[in-house]
Amino acid sequence: MRIYKCNNMLLTRISKQKKYLLTALLPLLSLTANASSEASIQDSETFIQVLLGITTVISFLVLIAVVIVYKVVHLLLIKEEEKVALAEGREAPVRLSFWDRFNQSMTDAVPIENEAEILLDHDYDGIKELDNHLPPWWKYLFYATIVFAAVYLALYQVFDVMPNQEQEYQAELKIAEQQKLLAAMSIDENSVEFSDDPEVLASGAAIYAANCAACHRDDGGGGVGPNLTDDYWIHGGTIGDIFKTIKYGVPQKGMISWQKKLTPSKISDVSSYIKSIRGTNPENAKEPQGVEVKE
Ligand code: HEC
Repeated sequence: MRIYKCNNMLLTRISKQKKYLLTALLPLLSLTANASSEASIQDSETFIQVLLGITTVISFLVLIAVVIVYKVVHLLLIKEEEKVALAEGREAPVRLSFWDRFNQSMTDAVPIENEAEILLDHDYDGIKELDNHLPPWWKYLFYATIVFAAVYLALYQVFDVMPNQEQEYQAELKIAEQQKLLAAMSIDENSVEFSDDPEVLASGAAIYAANCAACHRDDGGGGVGPNLTDDYWIHGGTIGDIFKTIKYGVPQKGMISWQKKLTPSKISDVSSYIKSIRGTNPENAKEPQGVEVKE
């Protein structure tokens, strides 16, 4: 009895400790559970995206601010210089046009007139070497790639306004799906083609079993309706003829029109199926009706 009581106390104590432990661990557990859940991954993805976007915009603004400050200080310095020159009775220094200065700062190119300044003392039988910078066209191309990369990064990675490969692929799949659907909807007795694709024949067989077997028998041997496995046809035995008979039916003879019940692609599938059971010679088949159609 004592042992039992003791054990019992121990048990309650352990379970109490367990409870404390659990309460302490719970937030941690739920945190890890959350982190692995899809929703929070998406959340953190959008968060990073927003962060990247804001950082880009802020860096851009800071850059513009720096350029403006630099320009203003530069302009003030030039004005000051002009003033000093005027006061001292000197001529104000010649100022290049904005474009010339821009060009100069971007390319660092040395004009041909001044090439002597950058001539190295290498002289190989009269062939001399200039210490010139890369050609301007090359540098502008390089700057263009930087601008392109920045725009590309912003459009594709930061703001996500352009579709990535995966999204493009999905969009094309969607279009293809719609085109397929459209093509399937537009099949008629003139455009239908026989297919021996097992998938098509299986689909045709299922449609046949569900809708046609009652009158044409499971094996196509014929019952109320004619034998569909022989070479004799009342309404023609080409795939187009069969499609047409199924689509419009022969209501006055007991063959229903199926165009309201089956989609064109289903009629096409079951037409292919009927073509595929030709010559299977089921037992006790109905006697031939119509005219013989030779393949
Ligand atoms: C209610 C009974 C009935 C059902 C159901 C039925 N048929 Fe018929 N079917 C007939 C009859 C009767 C004819 C013969 C019409 C005639 O004599 O002109 C026929 C004719 C046809 C013909 C033309 C045969 C020929 O010799 O030209 C085809 C093909 C055909 N059926 C296919 C189908 C398909 C496919 C289905 C199922 C989607 C189907 N039928 C469902 C009764 C039926």
